[in-house]
Order: sequence, then structure tokens, then C-alpha cells
Amino acid sequence: MVLKGKKITVGITGSIAAYKGCELIRYLQKKGATVRACITPSGREFIGELTLKALTGEEVLSHWKDGKTGLEHIFWARWSDAFVIAPATANTIAKLSAGITDNFLTSMALAYEGSIVVAPAMNCQMYKNPATQENLKKLKERGYLVVEPSSGELACGEEGEGRLAEIDHIYTELLRSLLPDYLKGKRVLITAGGTREYFDPIRYISNASSGQMGYSLAKMVYALGGKPVLISAQTCLEKPYGAEFIQVVSARDMYDAVMENLDRADVVIMNSAVADFRPASYSGSKLKKDRESPEVRLEANPDILKAVGERKRDGQVVIGFAAESDNILENAKGKLERKNLDYIVANRLDVFSRDEHSGWILDRDGNVVEIPPMDKESSALYILEKIFKR
Ligand code: CTP
Repeated sequence: MVLKGKKITVGITGSIAAYKGCELIRYLQKKGATVRACITPSGREFIGELTLKALTGEEVLSHWKDGKTGLEHIFWARWSDAFVIAPATANTIAKLSAGITDNFLTSMALAYEGSIVVAPAMNCQMYKNPATQENLKKLKERGYLVVEPSSGELACGEEGEGRLAEIDHIYTELLRSLLPDYLKGKRVLITAGGTREYFDPIRYISNASSGQMGYSLAKMVYALGGKPVLISAQTCLEKPYGAEFIQVVSARDMYDAVMENLDRADVVIMNSAVADFRPASYSGSKLKKDRESPEVRLEANPDILKAVGERKRDGQVVIGFAAESDNILENAKGKLERKNLDYIVANRLDVFSRDEHSGWILDRDGNVVEIPPMDKESSALYILEKIFKR
């Protein structure tokens, strides 16, 4: 779990989206964090303190009352590895920008040393208002990490920008506030998912890849300060927050997209399960079963990673994946050499379409680092840290 051992304070302010602050608490706990909640007086109009206490199993920082020392905002700021304010109202954003400390939450913000994550939620006119926009700009200039709200139907009935961002997006920004920036400024090209090779308008050959590892890598590249460019075959997953996204279908589409983006990339991570073969012919109309059973002849697809290895420029880091059933390390080493890679991540076939991953990282000098079994997000982070911490 990526947040194992991390201590996080979730600040909740007086917005109708306050209940989503509770969802965020749950989400962060599922990622392994110990969470505390801090709520403003108007936030308490929406969410009861008892709810937060029951969810976190911790005291809640809310209002001045007996038994408090009046210094809690300082102690909580020191305790927290990360501090996220979600939802953040226009009022709280204005106070943060002006340095006003009229409640525990705004006081804690001033006492907190790291980058605070702020997820605004409000009516679209309030959000667009130059006062709010200027305040947010100021916060960004001071190192706050702002998770822009999404567009849609708002509680007031209007449509527009102002809905609290997705919980997973807030979590990803929070990771960026928490993790070291090993990939700062680096453009990282990642491929994901199993390509589809169609032989009629609705039938195709593909494989069992879910794309989860590639998407987790894109998320963790962003969390480590990088700029992920995700080239993805069809999957059931949401586009990862913070990534430039390019949708492809077949191996040939993926080849074109990779080649188009290769020169600007500092790092290439080829995680996609590329179909090695495609049907040699394509029928524009649906193949009918009352005819003779069709024979699908196959022809080879381009080896994208091999082409990347051949074109690799100085300083570019190229990482491949190898899914193997037998002689895992030996086969992976062969691929590393044949495709001119810097690293290859080898794993068994049973990681396909499962949330768990384990395997080995091999480099050009013959070093092998074991990846212990863990969820794919944690494994993605583990792999990136092992390679880029050096
Ligand atoms: N790969 C690629 N293009 C292909 C096939 C594979 O870019 N046509 C990449 C994969 O994304 C992966 C690496 O090459 O990073 C190894 O893929 P894998 O399927 O394990 O090996 P293959 O090279 O296809 O060899 P084999 O199928 O014989 O194991």
C-alpha cells in the first residue's frame, strides 16, 4: 500500500461536497494511511464531528473547546506528512491567500511546512470570479498544489466548473506533495494495455492485459514529479490524472504514436502487451457463420520496443517488460540485450489481469533486484524508485 505508515490530515470546509471529504478519508485509509480530520465551523454544518471521529478513530480538530490547549494546529501541522483541504470553499481559499487564521484549519495551514493540496468546490460563477482565480494563482505561486475542479451539474442546479475533483485525482496530487521528485521535469512515455488486432469490424485478437500496471506507472511518474505521456490500447480504466493521454487500438497505431513522441521523451517504459501478430486480412463487413468457417492467417506486427532501442539517443532511458512462463530471468536478459534496453522488468504470466504484481528488475550490468509481491500501484512506485533514485 502506497501510503503505508504515512500520516495525513484531511481538512474539510463548508461546502455541500463536504461528504466527499469523508470518502477521501476512507480512500486514503485503504491506501494504508493514518488519517486525521480537521473541519471548519461551517464545515460542521454539513458533516458531524462524530462522523469524522468514527471514520478516523482519532480526535477531530474543529473548534476551540475545553480540553484543547489552543496549540493543536501547531501539533497537527508537525504530525502530518501531508495536508489536503478537500473540499476547499472560495472563503477558505481567500483566507489562505491572505494568511488569515480565524479557525483551526486556516491556522494549521499557516503552521504547515510542506505543500498543501487544495481541491476547490463551489458554484461555477464563484469559481470563475477573478477574486477566486487570483487567490488560487497566488496559492499555486506559493507552492500549494491545486486539484482543479471538474465540470458538470452542480448542487445549485447550474452546469459548469466547480465540482470537487475525483477522489483518485486528489489522492494522486497528494502523492506528488508527499513523494520525492526523482522524475522532476522528465517526460516519460508509457505504453499500456493489450493491443487489439481486428479481422472484421467487431472481432479482434488480443490478450488478457488489463492495463493496470501501465496506468499505475503513469500515476506514479506524475507523483514523482514527472510528465507522463500514456499511450494506451483499449482498457476499462479511467484516464490517469496528470497524464497526457493518447488512445490507440492496434500494434501499428501504437508503433506510430510511440515513434511520434519518442524524440521528446527522456524515459520510455514499454509496458503494453503488444500483439506479436495481426490477421493478414481484414473484412470490412461482418464475417457470417453460414459461410465456410473462416481461416485467419496471421502476419507479424512490428516490435515497437526493438525499434525504440535502435533509435535510442544518448541519455534516454528505455525500460521494457517481459512476461514469461519459463526461464524468466534468462529470457528477460535475452530481451534486454536484443532490444538494447537499460532495464527490463520480468514477471510471471499470473500477474496478468490481477491487482498483485511481483517480479525482478534487471539492468545492463547484470544486476537483479527482486520486486516482492504487492499491489500494482505500490509495485509501479517501487520500480520507479529503484531505477530513478540512483
Ligand atoms: N514489445 C513490443 N512490440 C512487440 C512485442 C513486444 O514493443 N511487438 C515489447 C513489450 O511491450 C515488452 C517487451 O517488448 O516491453 C517484451 O515483450 P514480450 O511480449 O515479453 O516479448 P516478445 O518480444 O514479444 O517475445 P516473446 O513473445 O517471444 O516472449
